[in-house]
Amino acid sequence: MDHTKTILVINGPNLNLLGMREPNTYGTKSLDEILEAMRAAADRHGVLLNFFQSNSEGAIIDFLHERTGADGIIINPAAYTHTSIAIRDAIAALGAPAVEVHLSNVHAREEFRRHSLIAPVCIGQIAGFGPHSYILALDAIVAHIARSRAE
Ligand code: DQA
Repeated sequence: MDHTKTILVINGPNLNLLGMREPNTYGTKSLDEILEAMRAAADRHGVLLNFFQSNSEGAIIDFLHERTGADGIIINPAAYTHTSIAIRDAIAALGAPAVEVHLSNVHAREEFRRHSLIAPVCIGQIAGFGPHSYILALDAIVAHIARSRAE
């Protein structure tokens, strides 16, 4: 029998401050509120979520190393999007399909946010829909997993 799929949901630096951090850019919902909405969506999809937030690059990499059985990854690498070859390599090493998520439309902001070191090892990127970006990412990864299973 098919095992229940587990999706890692990883949030990088400063995202623990959501709700009070630059609300004009990132909105007023806390990370817990966003994750609660994701949990409800995951229940509807029949998948399990494993949440992790860290402000430290090494902790994110260690978390990925310890989750070799994961079926998918949703990651908002925050500022590490634009700097971290190490997180990119850890995602590639795990080999599970990954979706990169951003609350803001990084392509409509400062020049340095337009470049992602993570996107090339992801199946796609979702940016600009506020907290709903995470729900879209979950829908996308669940559809991707179902499609790969059918092939
Ligand atoms: C962000 C965009 C990044 O450029 C920024 O460093 C963040 C948040 C977003 O979700 O819009 O911390 O990843």
